[in-house]
Amino acid sequence: MLSRTLVTLTIAVLITAMTPAPAADSPTVLITGANRGLGLEFARQYAARGWRVIATARKPAEATALAELAAAHPGVSIERLDVTDGAEIEALAVKLRGQPIDVLLHNAGITGARAGHGLGSFDYELYRLVLETNAIGPMRLTEALLGNVAQSRQKKIVTISSSEGSITRVDAPRGYWYRSSKAAVNMLMRNLAFEVQKQGIAVALVNPGPVDTDMMKGVRMPLQPVPHAAATVIRIIDAVTLERTGRFWDYEGGELPW
Ligand SMILES: NC(=O)c1ccc[n+]([C@@H]2O[C@H](COP(=O)([O-])OP(=O)(O)OC[C@H]3O[C@@H](n4cnc5c(N)ncnc54)[C@H](OP(=O)(O)O)[C@@H]3O)[C@@H](O)[C@H]2O)c1
Repeated sequence: MLSRTLVTLTIAVLITAMTPAPAADSPTVLITGANRGLGLEFARQYAARGWRVIATARKPAEATALAELAAAHPGVSIERLDVTDGAEIEALAVKLRGQPIDVLLHNAGITGARAGHGLGSFDYELYRLVLETNAIGPMRLTEALLGNVAQSRQKKIVTISSSEGSITRVDAPRGYWYRSSKAAVNMLMRNLAFEVQKQGIAVALVNPGPVDTDMMKGVRMPLQPVPHAAATVIRIIDAVTLERTGRFWDYEGGELPW
């Protein structure tokens, strides 16, 4: 085990020696929940493009894959952030003051799925946590880092939403907590889009589609490989413009109904 870790770290150090630091004018992305799943892959792909990546995780000491990425890429930094923790958001905002953030990428999310939880036995504490994570956290972090986004060149605020947040598409009951939290974040970000447009900031919501991450463990449906899904989302983010701000983009192309 120890020798495997040593080999991994040695390889990372060798790669770092070969990986140049990002150019002074490289864009910066801040990603929440960057320790696994889509968040980790976003960090990998932006790093490979030569971006500066502020990769946040709620338990940095346990984020080994992210640590390996940071060891291999001088432009990747890791910051502690639980998006439900107002004090941590504040501390991060103080630390990053004056640093432009081109893309603020709200990726962290939970489903709140629990066996036996449903009508008649709903867990409202769990609902609070899902709302705090999926809707309130992105809004609070946006407020805290708005100045950083406004200072950047690209000026984009992007939230990984879900087709489950589309009220129009609901035709059967399931996932009350997850669906309503994603509908809530859609509304928060759509509202925000009109407020920050005058600052030149574009806002987008993106449905990545079904992806083969921990979140979908045990779900029986075709799932996209994580690298493919992350690349699709990044292409959508690249195409976000101020003129088409506040839209709900779908991984298959076009927009989703609210
Ligand atoms: N996978 C899909 O099919 C799918 C489909 C539609 C939308 N999405 C959305 O895509 C996003 C990423 O999902 P995923 O599939 O990559 O899920 P995942 O593999 O379960 O990863 C979730 C990430 O969110 C982080 N997280 C959870 N609560 C947090 C908190 N309070 N503060 C900071 N980080 C927190 C987790 O960190 P820990 O390791 O510390 O728990 C983890 O890094 C989510 O917003 C999800 O709703 C996913």
